[in-house]
Amino acid sequence: MSFVLETRSLCKSFGGIVATDNVSFKLPAGARHALIGPNGAGKTTFVNQLTGVLTPTSGQILFEGQDITGWTVRRRATAGIARTFQINQLFADLSPLESVVLAISEREDAGGQWFKPLGAREDIVNEACELLHTLGIGDVRDARVGALPYGKQRLLEIALALAAKPKLLLLDEPAAGVPESEREQILDVVARLPDSVALVLIEHDMHLVFRFAKTISVLVNGALFCEGTADEIARDPRVRQVYLGEEEVGHG
Ligand SMILES: Nc1ncnc2c1ncn2[C@@H]1O[C@H](COP(=O)(O)OP(=O)(O)OP(=O)(O)O)[C@@H](O)[C@H]1O
Ligand SMILES: [Mg+2]
Repeated sequence: MSFVLETRSLCKSFGGIVATDNVSFKLPAGARHALIGPNGAGKTTFVNQLTGVLTPTSGQILFEGQDITGWTVRRRATAGIARTFQINQLFADLSPLESVVLAISEREDAGGQWFKPLGAREDIVNEACELLHTLGIGDVRDARVGALPYGKQRLLEIALALAAKPKLLLLDEPAAGVPESEREQILDVVARLPDSVALVLIEHDMHLVFRFAKTISVLVNGALFCEGTADEIARDPRVRQVYLGEEEVGHG
């Protein structure tokens, strides 16, 4: 089996807090993987080390077999690691089509020609339209981004991440803040993306996790608590215990 991503004994400490505790993790190409665990388990810290935003205290990160531990964010992005953009990185006054055309132009290194009228390159415009259609927001491609419902803005963020044609897409709570009725749609659209991109989803809503994931890792206190298929994790009494414990704390 070929692995798109691997970490070896990854550790990250913040002062006395061990946020990533000796995590050795392997992600197969085309994965539909969820990373779950209670608040503060270290999920975001783990992803931030994969993208290069945080430097591990020790351990290694391999992408397609290459040690990328010392690579910059930019170099990793170019190699094919993407994450969803934060909402405030969208340009409210552009349209979704203009936004995606810009992102594709950057990938094509046509970014230096941004001063030319958008749409000067028909192939880029066509690709952008197709991408918006794949994400189910083709109908609003000419609207103003700032006027879109929040759920559609989050789908646009995913489109922008995909414009780089990544091999690995990291989604840290992509449906957070989205009304309940639109959350399933976001995850369903993501799950239908082509197998050429491996997906790692961080999500607290177990209904969405099990709807999306084929495999799951559970992080607790920075360490990998257990891993398995979605069915195995759903049946694992230890996982239930972790979440029930959290719920009791939450209700107490
Ligand atoms: N920059 C930082 N400085 C100090 N401590 C940090 C920093 N970032 C994270 N931590 C700590 O590391 C631990 C893991 O945090 P992290 O945000 O990775 O958890 P998480 O699993 O993403 O939680 P959540 O589900 O709430 O998003 C927590 O104890 C957190 O307080
Ligand atoms: Mg987090």
